[in-house]
Amino acid sequence: MTHPLHGPHRFKLGVFSANADGGLAITTVPERWRASWADNVAAARIAEEAGLDFFLPIARWKGFGGETRVREHSFETFTWAAGLAAVTSRIGLFMTVHVPLVHPVYAAKALATVDHISGGRAGLNIVCGWNPEEFAMFGAAPEERAYDRAAEWITIIERAYAAEEPFDFEGRYYRLKGVVSRPASIQRPRPVTMNAAFGPPGRDFAARHCDFLFSTFSEIADGHRHVEDMRARSAAVGREVGVYTVCHVVCRETQAEAEAYYRRYAVEMADHAAVEAHMAGKKAFAASHDAAAFDLYRQRFAGGAGSYPLIGTPERIAEEIAAIAAQGYAGAALSFVNYTAELPFFCARVLPLLRQAGLREG
Ligand SMILES: Cc1cc2nc3c(=O)[nH]c(=O)nc-3n(C[C@H](O)[C@H](O)[C@H](O)COP(=O)(O)O)c2cc1C
Repeated sequence: MTHPLHGPHRFKLGVFSANADGGLAITTVPERWRASWADNVAAARIAEEAGLDFFLPIARWKGFGGETRVREHSFETFTWAAGLAAVTSRIGLFMTVHVPLVHPVYAAKALATVDHISGGRAGLNIVCGWNPEEFAMFGAAPEERAYDRAAEWITIIERAYAAEEPFDFEGRYYRLKGVVSRPASIQRPRPVTMNAAFGPPGRDFAARHCDFLFSTFSEIADGHRHVEDMRARSAAVGREVGVYTVCHVVCRETQAEAEAYYRRYAVEMADHAAVEAHMAGKKAFAASHDAAAFDLYRQRFAGGAGSYPLIGTPERIAEEIAAIAAQGYAGAALSFVNYTAELPFFCARVLPLLRQAGLREG
């Protein structure tokens, strides 16, 4: 089958972070996402039934504390995708993998396994990571030149699928003997890849080695700058690399209802201690957002880990998604406070408007 990311919809839509508690939100509301396995299966089935293109997990090893110990509970993403592959049939299933924490020979085999279980629906979201506490748990530390390692890492995976015979790899980060990985992935030469990053080294890595960049923006009108920057970087190495982004969603019948709920979960009932811990960590160790975003958008951190908020009526949200598409983005991954409770309304009401706007097929 054609991977859904290569499918007909002009603007691809998926679900982000359903594998982790809270999703992307940092809130104490009682209906917050608990990310049980049953929750994940139910959300994936709703998304698939509605025709969404992909399910994308977050890679988290530790939480951010606070009252809810937010993100402490999360499912490991290869095994999560393998489980979902067995109970779905059309939706694309990503794995989000930390380059420095997972050996490429292991990643190659696990990714191919999910590609086989899913019949060619696997996707790899590459992250270099940022959280020193997570790295410390592995006895490791974030690296200065993480993307140099990432370039070797993905090259090993690609060679492992392509090579007819076992091969040796002599790099700066990996020195491997007699590498073999069978079966190769069903998708050739490898499953669809994204790199989740914001800064220039991550963009250059995506330009050379990935199919897409997965990145944030602060204001819709700035989006085209990021997309054009990525186009220029990939054109410079003779490639075309599209850009996906991430948004958190509150979609309700009226604008007032949506805004009141956004205030409730992301301001009044935010898990403030966890928001502080998450923002402080990101500010210190990750260049994943514009510097101004941290102070300006505290609510966006509680609402969706600093992603862009889509808050309002179906019509308003469809207009904003169309505006994001018009900036040149290829797609977006969405988060909700409670995916199973909120996806049905979003899909029933927003997707038809996107079809009318020519962004989604049939
Ligand atoms: C859209 C997006 C999603 C990300 N998802 C994850 C994730 O699941 N786990 C993680 O540890 N880091 C994640 N990151 C952070 C990256 O691993 C990286 O540390 C961060 O973007 C800073 O590096 P950069 O300057 O290369 O972007 C994400 C970043 C972006 C922009």
